[in-house]
Amino acid sequence: MGKQEVIISKNICQDLEKVLAKHSYDKLFILTDEHTKRCCLPLVQKAKGMEQAQPISIGVEDVHKNIETLAYVWSTLSKEEGTRHSLLINLGGGMVTDLGGFAAATFKRGISYINIPTTLLAMVDASVGGKTGINFNGLKNEIGAFAPADQVLIDSEFLRTLDAENILSGYAEMLKHGLIRSTEHWSELLRFDFNDINYHTLRELIGKSVEIKEGVVEMDPFEKGIRKALNLGHTIGHAFESFALNNENPVLHGYAVAWGLVCELYLSHVKTGFPSSKLHQTVQFIKDNYGRLEFSCKHYEALYELMTHDKKNAPAKEINFTLLSEVGQVCINQTATKKEIFEALDFYSETM
Ligand code: GLY
Repeated sequence: MGKQEVIISKNICQDLEKVLAKHSYDKLFILTDEHTKRCCLPLVQKAKGMEQAQPISIGVEDVHKNIETLAYVWSTLSKEEGTRHSLLINLGGGMVTDLGGFAAATFKRGISYINIPTTLLAMVDASVGGKTGINFNGLKNEIGAFAPADQVLIDSEFLRTLDAENILSGYAEMLKHGLIRSTEHWSELLRFDFNDINYHTLRELIGKSVEIKEGVVEMDPFEKGIRKALNLGHTIGHAFESFALNNENPVLHGYAVAWGLVCELYLSHVKTGFPSSKLHQTVQFIKDNYGRLEFSCKHYEALYELMTHDKKNAPAKEINFTLLSEVGQVCINQTATKKEIFEALDFYSETM
């Protein structure tokens, strides 16, 4: 998989102009959702070259990350005479960058694309690393491909209009990056004050976070080994996310990951010796900023069942975890028994 160029931008129009000048293309398309079409497209349309861009707009949020929307994007590209030499820009959150990336990866067997993420989650996770796809048959990201964008242009200015919950949602992935990287970075993440957001500090933290993700992806682009480090918090986090969705009380992905981190750091403490003080400091930060998901011990079986469906598991249905023995010390391919997982859920209930 080719390496993508990630640009942390201070002037999105200027940087987009430079990026467009590097490409030779016959047609330019820009994919947005209804929200980014209104709020973000006018900001990038001022860039030289963008006057030719053909807009394609899709519905907002995960319900539209499906085969029908993908077919709509394919047919628009086709109807507007896109060719293998066309270029697609994806402007939006993770849903747009995932679906648009997959549309680009498959249209005419693959065209070049650029991601311009507009949410924190997309900036630090979805838009970087080449995972693209759609939901299918009720399963998240069931169909997809590894296909990196040529460039990812990250401008934290978009975050000034993002609501607090979506900032926190993306921040959970940053916290995960801190946990897998170093005590120094993890500590500075825990010091961040969400009641008085310093966008300059946030921008610097985003830069570091993206660098961590890029470093991991570069070592293992197809998730055969160390890229599994990025799954920390996600085995139980995905179960929380599906549980909340099934109960018609959907939660943002990053909130589920934050709560998943609480349980998986507990498992890390018990199984791989993650220090108790760092477990409790992280749990306190999550409790203070993310609140808690309501469930009781009568829901443990349902949560466990959801974990067995995780696509990271081997066919034998052992539940696969990424754990830590220390901040920055990752142990991939760990398993935990049902009893240990229930204990982790007990820990969650008692501490959160
Ligand atoms: N979101 C985790 C990864 O890109 O591998």
